[in-house]
Amino acid sequence: MGNIVVVGSINMDFVCYIRRFPQPGETVQSYRTETKSGGKGANQAVAAALSGGKVSLVGAVGNDSYSRDIVFGLRNYRVDTDRIMQKKSDIGTAFIAVEESGQNNIVISEGANGCLTVEDLKDLPELFGPSSVLLVQNEIPWACTRAALQLAKDHGVRTYFNPAPALGIEEDVFPLVDVMILNESEAESITSIRLSEELSDVKQAASRIIALGVREVIITLGEKGSFYMNDQEESIFTPAFSVHAVDTTAAGDTFIGSLIAARQQGTPIREALRQASAASALAVSRAGAQESIPTAEEVAEFLSRSDSRVGE
Ligand code: RIB
Ligand code: NA
Repeated sequence: MGNIVVVGSINMDFVCYIRRFPQPGETVQSYRTETKSGGKGANQAVAAALSGGKVSLVGAVGNDSYSRDIVFGLRNYRVDTDRIMQKKSDIGTAFIAVEESGQNNIVISEGANGCLTVEDLKDLPELFGPSSVLLVQNEIPWACTRAALQLAKDHGVRTYFNPAPALGIEEDVFPLVDVMILNESEAESITSIRLSEELSDVKQAASRIIALGVREVIITLGEKGSFYMNDQEESIFTPAFSVHAVDTTAAGDTFIGSLIAARQQGTPIREALRQASAASALAVSRAGAQESIPTAEEVAEFLSRSDSRVGE
């Protein structure tokens, strides 16, 4: 099984659980506030590792005590942390408000993630072996994301790109991307197509992304499910599993890590999408980012329970 090389962000999440989001100018009281390990790069690395992937995370932390705890936590999840650099900075942070509905609002502050340089990535190819894949998001400097994609392509490594947040994305990198995985709002901002409830809009957005040079695209649709399309015009809609939403933080990250780990283990796309959907449903039903991500065993157990419910 080829390894999964993730180049991405590592954050400390400050999570406030609130009844409802404040209006502009309004103050609301949190009924619980916690610090949790997060960051899209780290979350996706953990999700892939818990789904049985062999994962290396390349990124940056600071020289504070949060940074040490987070790297220690990543090692416990069996993520290879040898290429995590320590910068003279604070750890990246995310300020997350979670409503009772489980929906969140996130403000990120890059901290050490913003100190990562293209020079830091020059040895990246040493991590590439046979059937390796690269996974990047958009919470580190854009020049680094671009350089990682280019290095992977130069070495014949398959690339996955989660353009989140969808800010400052330059479309000329799309031909370097084999698989793009993004949510509805990211798809809207990349394609300028407004996604209504109609699947036809989602299809149109997926086609537009393929037309920009990506070979496969998956648009995640929250509680509705996900839509897959490739450059052969094949498409798959996978419904979501319905669960009681507690905290949607890292639902998308879980989907992505789980999907890639399944693909690396030779699981066909249709089944990999179903497993990813189950993994993200479980993450939605639990609080926090990394700590809400299920193991492969939990996902298998959830799927066997939902299969027997369908048969009832
Ligand atoms: O995708 C969820 C993550 O986004 C959080 O863990 C937070 O750190 C932000 O990066
Ligand atoms: Na969660």
